[in-house]
Amino acid sequence: MARLNLLEETRFEKAPVSVYSDPTAASLAVAKRIADLIRGKQEQGEQAILGLATGATPVKVYAELVRLHREEGLSFKNVITFNLDEYYPMQPDSEQSYVTFMNRNLFDHVDIERENVHIPDGTLSMEEIHDFCLAYEQKITALGGLDLQILGIGRTGHIGFNEPGSAPNSGTRLVTLDDLTRRDASRDFGGKENVPTKAITMGIGTIFKAREIILMAWNQKKAEIVKKAVEGELSSEVPATYLQLSDNVEFVIDVDAASLLTRFDTPWLVKDCIWDNKTIKKAVVWLSQTLKKPVLKLTEDDYNNNGMAQLATEKGPVYHINIDIFNQLQHTITGWPGGKPNADDSQRPERRDPATKRSIIFSPHPDDDVISMGGTFIRLADQGHDVHVAYQTSGNTAVWDDDALRFIEFATDFAKSQGLDTQKLEDLYKNARRFIADKKPNQIDTQELLTVKGLIRKGEAIAGARFAGLPDDHIHFQNLPFYDRGKYSKTPDYEDDILQTMELLQQVKPHQIFAAGDFADPHGTHKVCFDIIHKAMLRLRETEAWTKDCWLWLYRGAWHEFEIHEIEMAVPLSPQEVLRKRHAIFKHQSQKDVPVFPGDDAREFWVRAEERTRETARLYDGLGMAEYEAIEAFVRWKFEEE
Ligand code: F6R
Repeated sequence: MARLNLLEETRFEKAPVSVYSDPTAASLAVAKRIADLIRGKQEQGEQAILGLATGATPVKVYAELVRLHREEGLSFKNVITFNLDEYYPMQPDSEQSYVTFMNRNLFDHVDIERENVHIPDGTLSMEEIHDFCLAYEQKITALGGLDLQILGIGRTGHIGFNEPGSAPNSGTRLVTLDDLTRRDASRDFGGKENVPTKAITMGIGTIFKAREIILMAWNQKKAEIVKKAVEGELSSEVPATYLQLSDNVEFVIDVDAASLLTRFDTPWLVKDCIWDNKTIKKAVVWLSQTLKKPVLKLTEDDYNNNGMAQLATEKGPVYHINIDIFNQLQHTITGWPGGKPNADDSQRPERRDPATKRSIIFSPHPDDDVISMGGTFIRLADQGHDVHVAYQTSGNTAVWDDDALRFIEFATDFAKSQGLDTQKLEDLYKNARRFIADKKPNQIDTQELLTVKGLIRKGEAIAGARFAGLPDDHIHFQNLPFYDRGKYSKTPDYEDDILQTMELLQQVKPHQIFAAGDFADPHGTHKVCFDIIHKAMLRLRETEAWTKDCWLWLYRGAWHEFEIHEIEMAVPLSPQEVLRKRHAIFKHQSQKDVPVFPGDDAREFWVRAEERTRETARLYDGLGMAEYEAIEAFVRWKFEEE
């Protein structure tokens, strides 16, 4: 997608923003700009001085630069680089160091002179840091300043590691990392407690002096902070807002990161819209929520005063629009997630026939089924459908070491109590204990430990699914191989996972599939698990007739819910069902209290699940629908539209 810069559309934006259809397209464009700069300088016999960033965002830019070097002869002989930052303290050869990152992603693969590479030194003593930082700045200045600085943005709004509170004229210095930044880095370090609390970073003032600045951001996860950085007031609370003051900055983002910018999120506020049903629904829900008025009470004035006059004129009178949207919302609500037998289904989310459906719930980890759609799961089983559940991965990374030890001890004691030979188990226990005592952060467990951890989760999943009402032969453990392979390989291949999934689908021949539709984290397990199901179905659709009658419903994981206007099936839960769901979640004991990967949220999973479904019910109520205790939400994936 080319850059849109119609003044009206971008009037909320305080810096130039280019939006691309996906991160790859955007990364190629940025890499091309860097390559053009390097070549331009070469032609003039000059050096190109680049400011570089690390993190997930620029990885594809570097990959493209490496390709340009290998395949199109782009030379880095005239390039001098300065990296934005490095953790402190940090050894350069450590897995997590930015030196390692830069070598792996760029420097090891191009012809740059090593003495031209500069990365803040994480090995200095405290006393040496001040002089080092001054010298870093002076070196940049002596070379005539940075020609181009590329940046990512942290969810705190940091650029480099200039966290909230940083001054606009700050220079290179030692800083303390924000808690959210450390949480975001915790996966790389195997736990937040292993993430350094400090870093050496170029300052905002240093970045500002660059002749060109490109800030990149992809993914929905960045949408909120991008909106603040681009449309928000200048504030040291969001250091990236200072970029609004630069004449040389450009935000290069993908559609997902752009999704909360006014021109995409509420386009009626900035331009004439094409009022298709989706836009109308989104706008009316937005108007109702903004004015805190039920849909049926929205007036002509409400429309006119909130950028929706065009809609009122084109499709009005507004009361008709209100009724239409009210009905659409109303029709998403059903207590019959498998369809209601013998009922008119023309206005229901699911089909009436067949009255008994084969449904399969795919759960990326062994607890997503009950956490995210436990109420619907129980209802499907209660209503007599032939429900299967498939646990896609073992979830063996998310079990505490001491829980694993406890279970090995249990196995040994039990075997001993039965007069069995326990020598092997005792050896295994000793080895596991020794291994755990010396374990480095992020070190991959031994095969035995991975097995024990996987079995712990398997037992919990069986307990949860039985509690929901499934017979044992309807509980499938896929143990998809990509999950363990991904621990060793950065470029996993999913072919066997797809074949395995095709086989299971072919065996069940479902009328309904429920799958986790979390796309915010593109490399996350949920997204990979969805892609596997999706690819399996696409292939089966080429030959298998049953697939044409199979509907795919998406649910969202524990992190966030669909937006109200997107929801196509809303399954209300009674207070009693909320309790039953809670008890199903309780079966996942290894994930209770403090899970190994809590994400951004300190609440336990069952609390998150309840609060989220209560919130959906509250939002429906606010729109003027019936007031329910809780609602689970689903969106249908339509293969036909692909
Ligand atoms: C990296 C840096 C950081 C990152 C930011 C986004 O050198 O200074 O500001 O750019 O934290 O990180 P990712 O790209 O991993 O989301």
